[in-house]
Amino acid sequence: MSSSKRQVPLLDLVAQHATIREEVLAELIPLIDSQRFIMGPAVGEMECKIAGYTQSKYAIGCASGSDALLLAWMALELGPGDKVITTPYSFFATAGSLARIGVEPVFVDVEPDTFNLDPNQVEDAFRKHKNVWAVQPVHLYGGAANMGPLLEVAQRNGAVVVEDAAQAIGAEYEGRRVGAIGAIGCFSFYPGKNLGAYGDAGVVTTNDPELADLLAKLRIHGGHNKYFHDLVGINSRIDTLQAAVLKIKMRHLDKWTELRQANAARYLKLLEGVPVLLPSVAPYQTRHVFNQFTIRCARRDELKVYLAEHGIGTEIYYPLPLHLQNCFSELGYQKGDLPVSEQIATEALSLPVHPELSEDDQVYVAETIRAFYAK
Ligand SMILES: Cc1ncc(COP(=O)(O)O)c(C=O)c1O
Repeated sequence: MSSSKRQVPLLDLVAQHATIREEVLAELIPLIDSQRFIMGPAVGEMECKIAGYTQSKYAIGCASGSDALLLAWMALELGPGDKVITTPYSFFATAGSLARIGVEPVFVDVEPDTFNLDPNQVEDAFRKHKNVWAVQPVHLYGGAANMGPLLEVAQRNGAVVVEDAAQAIGAEYEGRRVGAIGAIGCFSFYPGKNLGAYGDAGVVTTNDPELADLLAKLRIHGGHNKYFHDLVGINSRIDTLQAAVLKIKMRHLDKWTELRQANAARYLKLLEGVPVLLPSVAPYQTRHVFNQFTIRCARRDELKVYLAEHGIGTEIYYPLPLHLQNCFSELGYQKGDLPVSEQIATEALSLPVHPELSEDDQVYVAETIRAFYAK
C-alpha cells in the first residue's frame, strides 16, 4: 500500500464496535422492545459492576463526565465564595464544572513528567488562598496523579480530594484504583474514553454512604420519590441504553487496557533515539491505562501536519491551558503564571494507541515521525 493511501486514525471505534456488535445488539434489541429507557435494570447492574471495578462502595451513573463533576461539587455543597485547587492542564469540564456553580478554580501547575497536579505547589496555593474546600487532581491521559502527597496536603488543610478520573478507568496509584482514593471519583464514558458509551454517559464513585445518597438524589431532581424533592437537583440520569452498552463493554475492558499498555510499551521501543520526549514512568507505583499516548516534541504543529499528510491521526490535548481561557480572564491569570502547563501545551501531541491499532501501523507511525525529524 502506498504511504499516501494508508490511514491510521487516532481512534477506531468502528473497528471496536465490529468486535462486539452481536453482543451489544443482543442486549439492546430486547431493551428497545421493552421501551424501558429511564432507569431500567441495566442502570443498577452497570453501577454494581463499576463499583466493583473501581474498588468503590458506591457508583452512581449520570449523564456525562461533566455532570459527574458538577454533581460532586453539588453534593459537597460548594458555591459562590468557595474555591477548589485544580490543574490548568486538562479538559475544560475540570474547571467548567466549578465555575458553572460559582466556585472559583485555583489553578496550580503540573509536574513536567507526569502532566499531573504538582503536590508541592498545592501547598503554596493553600497558603495564598482562603476558603479552599477541595483539591481536584486529574489522572491525565490515564496516568494516576501523585495521590499520596495530594491527600496529605489536602487533609492537613481541611480539604477533601475529588478525583477527575474521566480518562483513567482502571488506573492505579500504589495498588489502589483511581476514583476510590479521594472522597469522590468522577468518570466519563464519552465514546473516546477507554470505556466508552454509544453517546454521553458518566459515573460518580464514593465510599461514603451519605455522599452516595446525596449524589443519587441530585442526579434525579433531588429526590428518591417522584414529585418529592429534598434538594434542588438536576436531570442527569444515565440513559438505560448507555448503561447496557457499558455493561457489555466492561467484559472487554481489561483486555483492551492490556492492548493499550502493550502499544505504549511498543512505542517506547520504536521511538528510541527519536528527538521527542516520551511519556515517563511516574516516580510512584502506578498502573497507567493509556487513554492517550502523548509525546512532547519540538515543531509540534509541523509534525502534526506532516503526520496528517501521511494519513496518521493525532490530537493536541490541550492547546491552551485553562487559566488562559477567555472565559476565565476575570480570574486574573497572565501568560507565564503556570509555565510548565503553558510549555506542555505547545509541545504535546497524542498518537494513536487504541486497542485495535496493528503493530504494522505502529511501526509506520514511528517511522513517519523519525522521517520528519531526519528531514
Ligand atoms: C479530564 C476530563 N474531565 C472531564 C471530562 C468530561 O467528560 P464528558 O465529556 O463525559 O462530559 C473529560 C472528557 O471529555 C475529561 O477528559
